[in-house]
Amino acid sequence: MIRNNTLYIGHVKASTIADEYGTPLYVYNSDRIRKNYNSLIKNIRYWKTEIYYACKANYNLTILKILKDLGSGIDAVSPGEVYLALKAGFSSTKILFTGNNVTDEEMKFVKEHDVLINIDSLSQLKRYGKNYPNSEISVRINPNVGAGHHPHVITGGPKSKFGIYYSRGDEIKRIASHYNLKIVGLHMHIGSGILKPEPFFLGIESLLNTAKGFCDLEFIDIGGGLGIPYKPQEKPLDLKKFGQKLSKIFASYAKTHGKVALRLEPGRYLVAGSGVLLTRVNTVKKTQHRIFIGTDTGFNSLIRPILYGAHHEIIVANKAGREKTQKVDVCGNICESGDFFARNRIMPEIEEGDLLAIMDVGAYGFSMSSNYNFRPRPAEVLVSSNKVKIIRRRETVEDMLRYFR
Ligand code: LLP
Repeated sequence: MIRNNTLYIGHVKASTIADEYGTPLYVYNSDRIRKNYNSLIKNIRYWKTEIYYACKANYNLTILKILKDLGSGIDAVSPGEVYLALKAGFSSTKILFTGNNVTDEEMKFVKEHDVLINIDSLSQLKRYGKNYPNSEISVRINPNVGAGHHPHVITGGPKSKFGIYYSRGDEIKRIASHYNLKIVGLHMHIGSGILKPEPFFLGIESLLNTAKGFCDLEFIDIGGGLGIPYKPQEKPLDLKKFGQKLSKIFASYAKTHGKVALRLEPGRYLVAGSGVLLTRVNTVKKTQHRIFIGTDTGFNSLIRPILYGAHHEIIVANKAGREKTQKVDVCGNICESGDFFARNRIMPEIEEGDLLAIMDVGAYGFSMSSNYNFRPRPAEVLVSSNKVKIIRRRETVEDMLRYFR
């Protein structure tokens, strides 16, 4: 929210938070997470709809607990995420492990913690069956449909390494029955950052078609991928229409093939808009060609712009709402030429000492950060209306030194 040219997060001024906790700093607004969760669940009126939050988007323990209290489960993609979810208090039945290129050791870990495994390949299915016959599994299907905001995040269709192709249903059944495995779930995840409903429904059509041949299903999981508008001109997904159509499709499937729970695994949709990265401008470099706005962090903290060419709005927190008069490049402090948060961005006059808020970074921001250039990761704080609390302390160089022998 912007009031009197000042950016607020919840009811607190961004500049007050930066002064107290320092920069670079990730700040999340808990009310936004709750609002997103509730709007999603409210718009899907199918008899049993379950949200399994994809915690790769943001695995902060406090955020996991917020989602747990809202009733969410967890989509975990590594033993570490399974462990973290258990630590956050999720029961094992509320976690689904969807690994890719999974080792026997990883399967053992997940199995020992009573977490259901979502099988990603025929090879994994056989290995699992040999080691754990007479048990329950879920299977990830590639429905021959993919979509996403960038080629790197398309996870369905012929070029994708994920899942078992929808046409291999008979083989899946044959192997499963050989080891007496009960397939209780079918899953797809076609990609990420999708703002149009069509690819979802094409994927769902294919998945439900495959599902007809499986008689023990308790749930069908349509994955995550719901996009958010990062650019001002982008339109959000029409959740009401999406929810109505989804509910209708599942209700009609249930009528003819028996009731199955509908699962979704949103990551970005729930948390992206809740997060802001605060970074301080320390250098304004004007050359005959460009104006470089130099900040106190870089792609070590937020890699989406350089990795996907992703757009994030940037607000000058202490000059929000001021007239935008100059074209600038907002860059980080990392020793690579690609280290930019924005290029050719029209912004207000910026001076050294100004505070920038990089918006919509609650998903795949901190969780994709690194120690590149031997820089410690930022701290994370949570705002709940007018209260601010630290939910991950700032890393130090000493923390990073700990691993060396
Ligand atoms: N389920 C599975 C099995 C997934 O692999 C993913 C994301 C999700 C759910 C959640 O997708 P979401 O609802 O957040 O789109 N780093 C990229 C996104 C990669 C997503 C990978 N898988 C980015 O920053 O755009």
